[in-house]
Amino acid sequence: MADIIREDQALERACELILAGRPVAVPTETVYGLAADATNGEAVACIYEAKGRPRFNPLIVHVCDRAMAEEIGVFDPVSARLAEEFWPGPLTLVLPLKAGAQVSPLVTAGLDTVGIRMPLGFAARLAARTGRPIAAPSANASGRVSPTTAAAVDAGLGDRIPLIVDGGATAVGVESTIVKVEDGVARLLRPGGVAAEEIEAVIGAPLARGSAKATVEAPGMLASHYAPNTAVRLNATEVRGGEALLAFGPKRIAGAGEAVAVENLSKTGDLREAAASLFSHLAGLDRSGARAIAVEPVPMRGIGEAINDRLARAAAPRDGEEH
Ligand code: TXA
Ligand code: MG
Repeated sequence: MADIIREDQALERACELILAGRPVAVPTETVYGLAADATNGEAVACIYEAKGRPRFNPLIVHVCDRAMAEEIGVFDPVSARLAEEFWPGPLTLVLPLKAGAQVSPLVTAGLDTVGIRMPLGFAARLAARTGRPIAAPSANASGRVSPTTAAAVDAGLGDRIPLIVDGGATAVGVESTIVKVEDGVARLLRPGGVAAEEIEAVIGAPLARGSAKATVEAPGMLASHYAPNTAVRLNATEVRGGEALLAFGPKRIAGAGEAVAVENLSKTGDLREAAASLFSHLAGLDRSGARAIAVEPVPMRGIGEAINDRLARAAAPRDGEEH
């Protein structure tokens, strides 16, 4: 069983475990990550093993400063500008892997690019104190919703890892935005904690969308990646018999009074609050015993794009490889 230690008392123990090649669940500003020393292949293998994650799915490397990032990835001018503006924070940049970078090939799943971000809080302190870049996917079993509390990590992975660092509920609540710049064109690979509009305002151009290649470029984009056990029904205009309700905003749709359980992403219709509560409310309704989870419409603006992206994945059909 994992020990759970408050973040203000956990740094030394977490550093010892990381340097010994063990995985540790840590809070970031987005969601909890399952961290390991990115330079140590065996440590990284422990992450894949604990998550039950397909090996082809590359991991994000967390750094404490630009110097650490530049030892790993090659910055073009647009990526450099985005790092300056949004780091530390919920933005991951996919960059060409630097020749001789001390990162296990398991981290990049053999790609010649690497996803890098500078997080806020404990994960950054871990990288700074160990001097190691930290590989960390979200700290959930593969295919399950990302954890935003230490208790959620414990429920999913508690029996497979030695330590969970408890930093309380994460502030942002959805994963980082992933951007890749190619030939000067910035492409949105995954909507997330930084809104597309904010990035477009900085680069002065619209973001390209979707993958430029036929292959899946960010396997976290696989259709059913964020899946509760209970079926999810989107853009509900009424609650049907036996359903739970995931509400948004002050008004209620027809049948809400008979819902098996109700959670509201944000009673005031605040999208940031909705993102922060999304995964914990989905997990809560998943446990309610409802036949399905009806979800009220959420606006597409700002971080609403990331919320709708995760909801669409939660509602996608679940078959075979897509877990
Ligand atoms: O907020 C976050 O990003 C959280 C916290 C823990 O930092 N991490 C996270 O990691 O969401 P993960 O592994 O659950 O999702 C990482 C995504 C995956 O979809 C992966 O395919 C993509 O990043 N990715 C990583 N390296 C990549 C690369 N070189 N090219 C394209 N996509 C990449
Ligand atoms: Mg994930």
